[in-house]
Amino acid sequence: MASYCIGDLSRREILRMAAVLGGAGMLFSAKLAAAEALLRRTPAQILGPFYPVMKVWAKTADLTRPRDASGRASGQVLHVTGRVLSLSGEPVRNAQIEVWQANSHGRYRHPSDSNPAPLDPNFDGAAVLGTDAEGRYGFTTIKPGAYPAGPNTVRPPHIHFQVTGREDRLVTQMYFENEPYNDTDRLLNSAERKELLVVRLLPPPPELEPDSKLAMFDIVLFRG
Ligand SMILES: [Fe+2]
Repeated sequence: MASYCIGDLSRREILRMAAVLGGAGMLFSAKLAAAEALLRRTPAQILGPFYPVMKVWAKTADLTRPRDASGRASGQVLHVTGRVLSLSGEPVRNAQIEVWQANSHGRYRHPSDSNPAPLDPNFDGAAVLGTDAEGRYGFTTIKPGAYPAGPNTVRPPHIHFQVTGREDRLVTQMYFENEPYNDTDRLLNSAERKELLVVRLLPPPPELEPDSKLAMFDIVLFRG
């Protein structure tokens, strides 16, 4: 009788443990699947010395036509578009995106920029944007020029971003594919997954100017 009880308990215990282990296995599988579904956070980059110092940011999605300018900025017109997402792929709505960049000659409109390249009277190179309900953002600008950043150092063309969600802030820089200074740029090459920072210039969709270019840059925050 005792052996029956023990055997019965053992069998029940085994069944219970199997159920627990099975459940744990399912839970583990679910977590693994979720982890595989996670996006990669966009690599962070330094703020740099040319974060805009003006008191009021331009709230515009077209940096090529600043207020009070007489004409359009010189350079390759570029439409930058993308989404701000959390690691789990959820759109980050109402995120604030600050962008700033050099003009097509590689010069920032910033008192600390000693580059002798000319300023562009039709380009201020900074704006603040927001994301919509789907996390989308977009702006029109010109492709920035490369610029000297010390002896024998040239920074490849890039656009600076500071993205602020509800719980997370990311400072980063977006670069362009096939630029000659990409391979030697210390900042770009310090990123663990630098390919996430490099965009390809694409032909524009039919509704945009035919000689412009399109760049798609998704930005992934930890939690949004
Ligand atoms: Fe820069």
